[in-house]
Amino acid sequence: MQKLINWVDERLPIVDAWNKHVGKYYAPKNFNMWYFFGSLAMLVLVNQLVTGIWLTMSYNPSAEGAFASVEYIMRDVEWGWLLRYLHSTGASAFFVVVYLHMFRGLMYGSYQKPRELIWIFGMLIYLVLMAEAFMGYLLPWGQMSYWGAQVIVNLFGAIPVIGEDLSLWIRGDYLISGITLNRFFALHVVALPIVLLGLVVLHILALHEVGSNNPDGIDIKKNKDENGIPKDGIPFHPYYTVHDLLGVAVFFFIFFIVVFYFPEMGGLFLEKPNFEPANSLKTPEHIAPVWYFTPFYAMLRAVTVDLFGLDAKFWGVVVMGAAIAILFVLPWLDKSPVRSIRYKGWMSKVALAIFVVSFIILGYLGIVPATEGRTIAAQILTVLYFLYFILMPFYTRMEKTKPVPERVTG
Ligand code: HEM
Repeated sequence: MQKLINWVDERLPIVDAWNKHVGKYYAPKNFNMWYFFGSLAMLVLVNQLVTGIWLTMSYNPSAEGAFASVEYIMRDVEWGWLLRYLHSTGASAFFVVVYLHMFRGLMYGSYQKPRELIWIFGMLIYLVLMAEAFMGYLLPWGQMSYWGAQVIVNLFGAIPVIGEDLSLWIRGDYLISGITLNRFFALHVVALPIVLLGLVVLHILALHEVGSNNPDGIDIKKNKDENGIPKDGIPFHPYYTVHDLLGVAVFFFIFFIVVFYFPEMGGLFLEKPNFEPANSLKTPEHIAPVWYFTPFYAMLRAVTVDLFGLDAKFWGVVVMGAAIAILFVLPWLDKSPVRSIRYKGWMSKVALAIFVVSFIILGYLGIVPATEGRTIAAQILTVLYFLYFILMPFYTRMEKTKPVPERVTG
């Protein structure tokens, strides 16, 4: 075995790579449960790739055959129902895990210097993940697949001058059709997964260049022993490989309860109208995207005024786009001298709490039908969402921070 390793190593530096990224990658010793979600995101990514490849073997990407082929997978293909539920539950699990992973970043200031690029790659991953989920959702060719895609692609039509042509170009037809299904299939199973994988590699490379942050937000590289090893660092393997297995066990426990007992999650993971084949002549009574898009959908619907000769729909699209775009510049909005929420002042804590609560309630408002009262609530919450970012340069400068200890606190 050693001989084989040496043979390969002389031609490809696998030992160096192992040491740099695993065996001698010194991670802070005070990681808590919030640090499980990066490795869990990788686990879910593998699940999506593997189950996706197997689903593709029996799926038929045509307007005539798609819906029936999904039914065929559910009823006739051996273990097909399991493959599908692993994939559909995996999509929701991906967003649960990624949202918690992002929240950890917000809490511990992991986006701050020198980790801006890790954050930016993360945001690009998030964008591609949304595109991937959106295109995947058209594939079963159910009523919600069809009308959800119809609503979202039509949004592009709100852009002045080029809008109509742009949505026509995306669809490849005057309405969502088999042509759209074919291209979404190609993008969902080939193009976007490649981009996603590439971005995840860059995300990890950027992380390993500067090293992980930690719940104290302390730079562990400042305190090294005589061998140049951070005093508060421990080798990723075996310590965090084993530690992460605990996260995997807990995750699987919850994930499989959902897969086996609640795969539809009461219509949240698999929406009820999607059990009916797509019908371009029959609009469902209530069109709502899957839960992970609903906070942004609520913001879109919250904009109800026409401005500067452009209609409310256009401004809704702008607000929705801005809600995501503003996350990209977060590293430059936070002016705090400390990273972690543990040492920030009360204003940062209150701001983060309001932000999270607003996002969750917006998510709820995006699921239920709009009423006048709900629209006003969505408008207020949209403003609160943006204030978290817009006021950040001020409250992070103004507030009194706590002294940061020299060494990590456990
Ligand atoms: C497919 C999706 C993703 C995968 C597989 C992934 C993977 C990872 C892994 C394995 C780590 C190191 C372990 C950890 O700190 O938990 C990490 C760290 C990090 N990720 Fe991600 N990530 C993903 C998406 C995102 C997104 C969407 C963001 C934010 C926009 C993000 C921001 C970060 C940051 C800031 C760190 C450094 C955290 C620290 O050192 O405190 N990641 N990621």
